[in-house]
Amino acid sequence: MPDRHDLYERCVQSVDDLAPLLRAIHGGKPAVLGEDFAGTAALSHLWVDASDDARAIAVDLDAQALHRRDGHARLEKHIGDVRTVGAPCDVLFVGNFSIGYLHTRGELVEYLRHARGRLNDSGVFVCDTYGGESAFVLGGVHRPHPLAGGRVCRYTWEQRSADPTTGMVTNVIHFRIERAGVIEHEIMDAFVYEWRLWSVPELRDAMAEAGFARTQVYAKLADAVDDEGNAYVEPVRDAESELDESFIVLVVGRV
Ligand SMILES: C[S@@+](CC[C@H](N)C(=O)[O-])C[C@H]1O[C@@H](n2cnc3c(N)ncnc32)[C@H](O)[C@@H]1O
Repeated sequence: MPDRHDLYERCVQSVDDLAPLLRAIHGGKPAVLGEDFAGTAALSHLWVDASDDARAIAVDLDAQALHRRDGHARLEKHIGDVRTVGAPCDVLFVGNFSIGYLHTRGELVEYLRHARGRLNDSGVFVCDTYGGESAFVLGGVHRPHPLAGGRVCRYTWEQRSADPTTGMVTNVIHFRIERAGVIEHEIMDAFVYEWRLWSVPELRDAMAEAGFARTQVYAKLADAVDDEGNAYVEPVRDAESELDESFIVLVVGRV
């Protein structure tokens, strides 16, 4: 039976593109990455493998996920709540809409204060969120991912429930492995998330309240990173022309 964390890393994450994107958003030479809600800490592992000066701090409640890979001398793994655990860093990243685990504004601001306190001079906090016309629409998106041996993993992202009066959404990930059209394995409800879908201005307001000096929004563009791993990023200045009707963005707080 394939492992759901393996499939998640292959189909959902694209950490190769994230690292250069985060460096470009930071704008300097960030050495220490913080990865909160890190899951298997795939980004942190890639970060420390990329250079001998790089260090990372990964935090998650789930010890099993966090310790899936062997340890690394320059990677600290902290099992605990992101609101209380961590260490100083230059870039602090929260990916795949995990900021939505903080359901109330009080919890969000408490977390952002803690995150702000961990950042070194010129540090940046970066989290993603989605919005636009389909933000509260129910349904699924399917994407095929080629695997070894002629197999294909069909990954489905389903928005199962969404309440625009509370901002609460239930999002679910399913995986189906097929070979020549025959289903070999199916993992329905591989991951089920109960999230508060924070809007971009809600996140920016909470960041300002938590003490960030400046907030910005970057479109999460598929072609922001070239083949050599160089990222070209600019904050969104004109949302009407720069964002799609449904969008994923990175919301950034600077110290
Ligand atoms: C959607 S996964 C994110 C995985 C990975 N960071 C990514 O970008 O795809 C969310 C993770 O957040 C963790 N989590 C949820 N609430 C948390 C909390 N309060 N403190 C630490 N980790 C938490 C879960 O254990 C889970 O591994």
